Amino acid sequence: MSNSIRKWIFVLIVPLVVIGVIGSAGGSAGHGVALQSANVNLSDKASLQRGAKYYANYCMGCHSLKFSRYNRMAEDIGLNASNGFTDDQVTTFLKENLIFTRDENGKQVKTGSLMTTAYSAKAAEKAFGTSVPDLSLVGRSRGSDWIYSYLKSFYLDDSRPMGVNNTVFKDVGMPHVLAGLQGYQTLVHHEDKDGHHVAPTLTMSKPGTLSAAEYDVVVHDLTNFLAYVSEPAQLSRKMYGILTLLFLLVFFGFAYALSKEYWKDIH
Ligand code: HEC
Repeated sequence: MSNSIRKWIFVLIVPLVVIGVIGSAGGSAGHGVALQSANVNLSDKASLQRGAKYYANYCMGCHSLKFSRYNRMAEDIGLNASNGFTDDQVTTFLKENLIFTRDENGKQVKTGSLMTTAYSAKAAEKAFGTSVPDLSLVGRSRGSDWIYSYLKSFYLDDSRPMGVNNTVFKDVGMPHVLAGLQGYQTLVHHEDKDGHHVAPTLTMSKPGTLSAAEYDVVVHDLTNFLAYVSEPAQLSRKMYGILTLLFLLVFFGFAYALSKEYWKDIH
């Protein structure tokens, strides 16, 4: 094999190996508990819209999304002119379904406001013994599968201040805010035939208003929404990636045809 061919193989193979190693290291960063797959799908606009509604109703009271604005979020999740919504309809929808925050004069905040909460860090510290984190980036810091599994893993625990604990987030300070929908689960310990402890499981002890399958959809929608919030540019970035690859493919065709044309008389 000539030296120059070896050099080219090296130049092509090394980056692929490096990318492979980095990719697999990122994917296997576990947290002890097996996580369930959230199956995030950002092109499912109906799911994002339901997720935004659940978020406003069940989470915004405590968790802000301080880098997002209501009107931009509405546009991104499909409440826009290309889906047949007029500006007035979007404003009405936002005011009736998503904006529960009020300013210091008690007036509902404007649709162009940042999605902050009125909950102060001090009040949170007092109520929960810990700060209430902003969830703008949680989709990236914890990952979608973590959020999905976390919201499904609260269980009754009298020893905790909120009366609940969580198998994914041990000794969590957050109450089980979706208990009305999911119900309350109990932790069941198991032993194998040699008397060794094996992973505990959760069983439903006080059902909520939803079935397990319906609750999964709610949690999926919330996770989908938080995945979008953590990187709004994902929506367009993936499309640009595909367009770029298509362009390269077409360009390759032209370059190949041109190269054949140039060399056709040389033998
Ligand atoms: C009553 C206040 C309250 C509400 C409402 C609430 N949370 Fe929380 N949440 C907390 C507190 C407090 C923590 C911090 C827990 C800790 O550090 O122990 C937390 C932590 C979290 C975390 C982990 C963040 C991290 O990276 O550590 C996620 C994810 C989360 N909440 C999601 C939600 C979602 C989704 C909702 C709505 C369904 C919600 N929360 C509603 C109080 C709340």
